[in-house]
Amino acid sequence: MRHLLAIEGMPRAEIEALLLRAEGFREGRNSERRLSGKVVGNLFFEPSTRTRSSFEIAAAALGAHVLNWTVAGSSASKGESLLDTVRNLAAMGPAVLVVRHPSSGAAELVARAVKCAVINAGDGQHEHPSQGLLDAFTLKRRWGSLTGKRVAIVGDVLHSRVARSNLYCLRTLGVEVVLCGPATLLPAEVGRLGAKVTTELDEALEGADAVMMLRVQRERQTEALFPSEREYHRRWGLTAARAEGLKSGALVLHPGPVNRGLELAPEVADGLQSVILEQVENGVAVRKAILEAVA
Ligand code: CP
Repeated sequence: MRHLLAIEGMPRAEIEALLLRAEGFREGRNSERRLSGKVVGNLFFEPSTRTRSSFEIAAAALGAHVLNWTVAGSSASKGESLLDTVRNLAAMGPAVLVVRHPSSGAAELVARAVKCAVINAGDGQHEHPSQGLLDAFTLKRRWGSLTGKRVAIVGDVLHSRVARSNLYCLRTLGVEVVLCGPATLLPAEVGRLGAKVTTELDEALEGADAVMMLRVQRERQTEALFPSEREYHRRWGLTAARAEGLKSGALVLHPGPVNRGLELAPEVADGLQSVILEQVENGVAVRKAILEAVA
């Protein structure tokens, strides 16, 4: 694998090989420092807690030197362009650049401009492939097999790169995906994404083996797309009562950061059905597998 830019179009065998390798890391079976002597650059043009930290921990565990770059304190804050920034950093010889950027397509643009491997750590509203892989990994560890399972992805689908990567990843692995949210937060092309679509949360939750709640991305909303936060929580939030009505054994996921009390009730986020911190824990193993595959 040369880069990891998107899950869309990734062959099932390639996804499964990454998940298998990640399982080895998760079980502590792969301890080789395969990136010894190499540099991994973390380039985050947007804030991050989970993704940046877990790529850093994963790269360090594989023996790499990690360069943590952020806009603040760099010449990007003086107006240096994305391409000038990455070409200059690439000239210092990193093996991998991990790139998060607010513009869809930014990671692909970077991959075309540099010789090293590029990992998309989230580009605008396009994709967040390592999140899609770690979510599939989390479900696979819980269930053994994903085939025939049903997963509801609920909320701000319009702005969600997590929803897209999960949809492509889960469908490729044989999962039936249901997308749900207010009509104003569903993309115009939603009917062509290959998932069942509904604006009714109770319909989406019916028979779901897992529910993936999406963060309402207030920072990407330039106009009011739902009447009020209270109304959103009432109609599309996973409340304690709705969580109680889920199929027995159903799991609750969220990529983080969680808007507590908006898309997800705090007691559900912290409850027994929640695998949110398992997702974060598994992210390190999955990112080790990704780094190893591209470096
Ligand atoms: N899930 C996720 O991308 O979280 P961060 O923004 O904290 O990296």
